[in-house]
Amino acid sequence: MKIAMVASEAAPLIKTGGLGDVMQGLPAELSRMKGNEVALILPYYGVMKRNPAIKTEFITSFAVSMAWRNCHVGVFRVKSRKKLQIYLVDNEQYFNRSRVYGEGDDGERFAYFAKAALSTLAAVGFIPDVIQCNDWQTALVPMLLKSEFSSTFPNTKTLFTIHNVEYQGWGNNCFNMDVLGLPAEYTDIMDMGGASNFMKSAVVMADAVSTVSESYAGELMHPYFAHGMDGMLRQNAHKMRGITNGIDPDAFNPQTDKRLTLCYDATTVGEGKKANKLALQKDLGLPQDEDCAMLAMVSRLVSHKGIDLLTNIADRLLDRRVQLVILGTGDAQYEEFFRALQEKYPQQVAAVLQFDGGLANRIYAAADLYLMPSKSEPCGLSQIIAMRYGTVPIVHAVGGLKDTVWPFDPQSGKGRGFTFQSYNAEDFLYAIDRALDVFYNQKEAFLRLREQDMKEDFSWRKPAKEYMALFGAL
Ligand code: GLC
Repeated sequence: MKIAMVASEAAPLIKTGGLGDVMQGLPAELSRMKGNEVALILPYYGVMKRNPAIKTEFITSFAVSMAWRNCHVGVFRVKSRKKLQIYLVDNEQYFNRSRVYGEGDDGERFAYFAKAALSTLAAVGFIPDVIQCNDWQTALVPMLLKSEFSSTFPNTKTLFTIHNVEYQGWGNNCFNMDVLGLPAEYTDIMDMGGASNFMKSAVVMADAVSTVSESYAGELMHPYFAHGMDGMLRQNAHKMRGITNGIDPDAFNPQTDKRLTLCYDATTVGEGKKANKLALQKDLGLPQDEDCAMLAMVSRLVSHKGIDLLTNIADRLLDRRVQLVILGTGDAQYEEFFRALQEKYPQQVAAVLQFDGGLANRIYAAADLYLMPSKSEPCGLSQIIAMRYGTVPIVHAVGGLKDTVWPFDPQSGKGRGFTFQSYNAEDFLYAIDRALDVFYNQKEAFLRLREQDMKEDFSWRKPAKEYMALFGAL
């Protein structure tokens, strides 16, 4: 099958969040499957041009029309021996900015990108059976395919994947007329309550809509989770699917991770954790104590990650025999809270308020328990990385957290971690207490659980097969 994938980021070329990891792992896996030809299209951001590790070659250039004007499109290809072809859309005006997102004209930038991506496929002669596009930045692709590009791609189907429904791509109701220049009926397709909404057009126009876990697919039908999109999604429920993300087992591998003090696998996790924990404690200025439970959180410090639950129980939690390691940046109020918490409990708390990928992996390797009390979570990646590193997750049973962390039953030994059902600080603390009880008082059971988590197959193999089945059905 010929598959084109369009996204606004893909690691290791450009990454701001989980989407970047998905667009690294999934295209690679699909391209390895027999009979597939996969092309990935990304914007050629300025930071990528300045990155000497990214080698590209120029392919072609042309213009696309945007309403009343023509815009330049340069097409570059990433030099690589891999089967996956990666094309980069070059336009200095739109993509040579200091940030990837958050510019005042993001709507126009990514409307241009959607057009340019389709034109690029035509220009390089890649006529796909299916185009998979991701989040609001590429949400105009299905509508463009069925309008301006319908004669170029008469048989191509589209799958629109929602990674986070919170960001939908809003514009005013002149957006089509001013920027896209499609006939007036398409203004209505984008219309949501008198404004333009990119994601809504994709939900209506795509042949299928998916999201990144089964539970989140169900949750999106409810107003509590859907940020206003639930009505449209319910109307299109017949097109909706949930496919839980995987991770790249080589990119996250405690057996080969050079940043660790000592590498380990499921059979040597005991020694591995001990060495990594002692080293991390030393570096972070915590007492070196291999037997003390280390709880960790690597997260953006924002409300929907459930930080309020942790701030609420922090004092009571630190009354127990635990160390708490926090890594991340975010809202000033939370940063301030953790700074103060570290001052109050210097023997127990280390809060590193920055973004540091290397330290993140060392924390995954050192910690015993991983906290992820998100209010909502489309899929979530860190709980999966934590398990891969033998760190047992404690999660709010919601979205992808519910689908990847099954509750542990010490009697049967089945399960992967500790969960709580309602978004509530008391329930969170109770889940932590159950985990600590197993950690301190049922050591055998804890060691087995940790080993089990490390042996699970979280690779892209299974999800890639599910995507192929969906493409096949289309
Ligand atoms: C978004 C979601 C996260 C998901 C990721 C990749 O960042 O918030 O839950 O894992 O996309 O799909």
